[in-house]
Amino acid sequence: MVVCHCHNINEKAIYQAAANGVTNYSHLKAELKVGTCCGQCEGFARETLNNALKPAGELHLQYT
Ligand code: FES
Repeated sequence: MVVCHCHNINEKAIYQAAANGVTNYSHLKAELKVGTCCGQCEGFARETLNNALKPAGELHLQYT
């Protein structure tokens, strides 16, 4: 599903960015330009990034 229509960024790209070390929305904006045009996608982009980061957080807690 497309998250940011202005820059044609889909959920997969955000999950990939999280896997590559993006940990917050500011960093996501810098990496993918998501939310830097009309800004309509910000809420969905933040939610998608949070979901992408959840498994890593759970793994971290599980093994520490
Ligand atoms: S839809 Fe993402 S900046 Fe416009």
